[in-house]
Amino acid sequence: MNQFIEEQRQSLKTRVGENPVLLLISGGVDSTVVGALLLKILDSEQVHLMYMDTGLMRKNETNYVKTTLARLGTKYLHIVHCEDEFLSALKGKIDPEEKRKTIGDLFITIQEREVARLGLPENYFLAQGTIRADVIESGSTASSGGKTNVIKSHHNVGSPLVEAKRKAGRIIEPLEKLYKNEVRELGRCLGLDEEIISRHPFPGPGLAVRILGEVTKTQCDILREADAIFIEELKQRRSPAGSALYDEIWQAFAVLLPIRSTGVSGDMRKYSWVIALRAITGLDGMTAEPYLFEMKDLLEISARITGSVKEIGRVTYDISGKPPATIEWE
Ligand code: XMP
Repeated sequence: MNQFIEEQRQSLKTRVGENPVLLLISGGVDSTVVGALLLKILDSEQVHLMYMDTGLMRKNETNYVKTTLARLGTKYLHIVHCEDEFLSALKGKIDPEEKRKTIGDLFITIQEREVARLGLPENYFLAQGTIRADVIESGSTASSGGKTNVIKSHHNVGSPLVEAKRKAGRIIEPLEKLYKNEVRELGRCLGLDEEIISRHPFPGPGLAVRILGEVTKTQCDILREADAIFIEELKQRRSPAGSALYDEIWQAFAVLLPIRSTGVSGDMRKYSWVIALRAITGLDGMTAEPYLFEMKDLLEISARITGSVKEIGRVTYDISGKPPATIEWE
């Protein structure tokens, strides 16, 4: 990895020169590693980072991103607050593909508007955290000629802005040949915290694909709370082998179902929302198996969620593998 950094130093410096570089960051491992790499190699005056807070992010995500990037020595971090725009675009939409498309289209619109607002010179470079699996999953390499079979539309690889920059030869994708474990190794070499490096993947459309049916601010807030408790528990709990459950699991999250079920509160009957917990093992997200929890862990996590989030009355555990189920619910 040190050799990789040296190679990147030489090729990036030659390609980019003194020009500005804009990186769109998501808060995930891949784009954070690219950010760290750019800031290590280039002058921080050249590096512009842009992050969109869509309102579909996890609890405290924007603050987390700010702190992480400040630690890397970033000078220009542009945070775009666009929660209202995303929530109004999603209003009344319940079809999963329509939701994905709405989010993807709005991402593109806001991205173009905000990038134009930065007023960067025409010849700036655009950097992306594309990794090998993105190229394979999206099927959008030059040789494949486009998507073969769309299971879920994916918004990460192409947008008009990206395509225009690609055409102009001004795209930088330093991780495109790396597998996820190599990206993590590179992050360690660049001095990133283990907490960021071991973060589970998070999908581009965010909580919208984990809230079945219509996405509202209330639903996002309920899901954020439940999800944060689940993840915190996984980081604290140990497996029989002694490692944190979070580190044994490839990806874990909560899903908010569009149904209410009966429960009791004191002497009263109440109808509250149902959460499904998903935790899977796997290597790359192409296939997955449900994580085999000790029942005691599940019961305690469930009790903490229903005890702390009053809108939730019932917790289930998703025991489906991929295939036939996908990892995300929508
Ligand atoms: P599925 O649900 O397709 O998920 O089995 C496989 C992996 O991809 C993530 N995922 C996405 N990631 N943009 C992303 O960046 C997306 O649109 C998207 N959809 C799914 C999912 O979280 C899992 O890790």
